[in-house]
Amino acid sequence: MKFEDIMRQSCNLAGEIMMDNFGLNKEIKSKGPNNWVTEVDIKIEKKIINFIKKHYPTSSFLAEESNENNGVRSDLHWIIDPIDGTNNYIHNYPFFCVSIALMIDGVIAHGSIYDPNRKEFFYSEKGGGCYLNDKPILVSSNHNLSQTLLCTGFITSNKKYAQANVENFKNLLYKCRSIRRDGSAALDLAYLACGRLDGFWELGLNPWDTAAGILLVTEAGGAVTRINGDTYDINKKDIVASNSLIHGDLVNILKCDL
Ligand code: 2AM
Ligand code: CA
Repeated sequence: MKFEDIMRQSCNLAGEIMMDNFGLNKEIKSKGPNNWVTEVDIKIEKKIINFIKKHYPTSSFLAEESNENNGVRSDLHWIIDPIDGTNNYIHNYPFFCVSIALMIDGVIAHGSIYDPNRKEFFYSEKGGGCYLNDKPILVSSNHNLSQTLLCTGFITSNKKYAQANVENFKNLLYKCRSIRRDGSAALDLAYLACGRLDGFWELGLNPWDTAAGILLVTEAGGAVTRINGDTYDINKKDIVASNSLIHGDLVNILKCDL
């Protein structure tokens, strides 16, 4: 099966489980200070990994809720967040998604993000553009910071990131049209890729939050760097992504001196 179809089917499986359990009482466990997981996250992750393994048995996985292969990485390395936006999911707030990226020989080559509430499937193959439900999408063409809709998030489990970002928030608030804090970094990046947002930044994220989204954004014509403007690396914690036209403005204003 083609990688695109594997991703589409994995996302559909995940979406079905998410929506079947949405609004129901769920068992919630703590993974550390203000860091939560539900039984649904774990069920979805297992389902996706088993489905992929059936088709590509030599795959390795980096997934939020499990340690599948003790850090060993094969040529086909899948990076999975079964539910990005778990806090939203727990609170029955309908903004969450599943995110799946595929690294081939160390390079992110395919990315998919699926929002089961709106039935929106975002997909990108490196060099092949970016698609929302099979229609090509591009980032916005807004170049005036004062007319932009930005988005960020606060990782409250780690106060140093959250506090540094409160300063960033204050510094940008009156320079743009408005700022959202939607609670799913992956879906925020997908919204940037299709032009609903003009910029996004966050401090304290993990590879599974961003791996698929950064491919979507760059293939849709946007820019992704670290907050100081350096080349982005999914193993580093800070990210700024934009339609590329306001990227310099964001890098000039944002700070991550930790
Ligand atoms: P999650 O829902 O998959 O945990 C919200 O701004 C973003 O931060 C989401 O992508 C969310 O992913 C992530 N997030 C929430 N709590 C986190 C934590 N304790 N550490 C790192 N990322 C977290
Ligand atoms: Ca998650």
